[in-house]
Amino acid sequence: MAWKTLDDMDLAGKRVLVRVDINVPMEDGKVTDTTRIDRIVPTIQDIVKAGGSPIMLAHFGRPKGQYVPEMSLSPLVPYMSDATGHDVTFIERPSRDMIDALPATQVVLIENTRFTAMEEANDPQMAGFLASLGDIYCNDAFSAAHRAHASTEGVAKLLPNCAGRLMQAELSALEAALSTPKRPVVAVVGGAKVSTKLELLGNLVAKVDHLVIGGGMANTFLAAQGVNVGKSLCEHDLADTARDILAKAKDAGCDIVLPSDVVVAREFKAGADNETVAADACPEDAMILDAGPQSVARIDGILAQAKTLIWNGPLGAFEIEPFNAATNAAALAAAKLSKAGSLVSVAGGGDTVAALNGAGAAEDFTYISTAGGAFLEWMEGKTLPGVAALQS
Ligand code: 3PG
Ligand code: MG
Repeated sequence: MAWKTLDDMDLAGKRVLVRVDINVPMEDGKVTDTTRIDRIVPTIQDIVKAGGSPIMLAHFGRPKGQYVPEMSLSPLVPYMSDATGHDVTFIERPSRDMIDALPATQVVLIENTRFTAMEEANDPQMAGFLASLGDIYCNDAFSAAHRAHASTEGVAKLLPNCAGRLMQAELSALEAALSTPKRPVVAVVGGAKVSTKLELLGNLVAKVDHLVIGGGMANTFLAAQGVNVGKSLCEHDLADTARDILAKAKDAGCDIVLPSDVVVAREFKAGADNETVAADACPEDAMILDAGPQSVARIDGILAQAKTLIWNGPLGAFEIEPFNAATNAAALAAAKLSKAGSLVSVAGGGDTVAALNGAGAAEDFTYISTAGGAFLEWMEGKTLPGVAALQS
């Protein structure tokens, strides 16, 4: 790998600026999912063990360069102390003198980096200021690495830098899934709209052996092949694009897997009356809300032969029962194969992780990314500025 890790750095007595992503979901001042906090613990603990002081930089929400009290990071301090087992000092307006006055291995959290517009502008002055606060820069925020901001990109170039433990784990899982995978490789891509995943599909057809398309996106592909999808969510204006992707896949020897049977209903609501029909037999007044059992059986068969799986997006309207059935069944099949050791499975994206958690499948996946947008951009084959800065 082209980047350094904490093991390559001399951390004793050093102030280590650590970019973390603790942009966690909160309700009424309480964190509803602490995953992102839990996952940065190894980095913080390893720095302290080596005698360094972790100075955490993080954003929260999108305050657009203004001070927004509801987006302060201070409510996260107790969670961070709990998770790391260390006292966390919160600093609203840092200076190097303040930091130098703290004990050698003190864990510090600096207020929301996005409270100044200089952060998202990747202003060199802000990057320089941040660099003045530390001796070493460690990026542990893969999920924010698609942003070229002062705390993710600018500052990395001004200090000796390295990847944190979570960044290392994310990068090696993603490499194993798409850069140097064991074949056959299957990608499952779902979600509402083709339009948001065009680049991703274009990149994947050249790289994977089977591309399973699910959710509303599948309807667009079915319609592009002349199938009547009734009232289903469908981007009819993207028919040409869908046909281009199908042609590109054919040239690349990528097997595109669309549903052969579908679950249809007349209403988009939990428990709506539904029936399973052939994919080309959606009634005029109905909409496709899930893939059917025959489609799931085909996906299961492909997974059973596969060595690698990369998953982004649900196969159906997973947020309303029973239209989570195909997503759940395929996810559980993948989880079982992963647990048995025959499949390396990597999943990412906010909705995806929620769907896999809902299915009770996440635990047995080989790797669950903490990233949403960054995972997508990585699947699109893009260079992530936060990662690139570590390599320079
Ligand atoms: C995320 O939650 O996906 C990351 O923290 C990035 O946040 P952003 O989309 O506001 O840049
Ligand atoms: Mg986002």
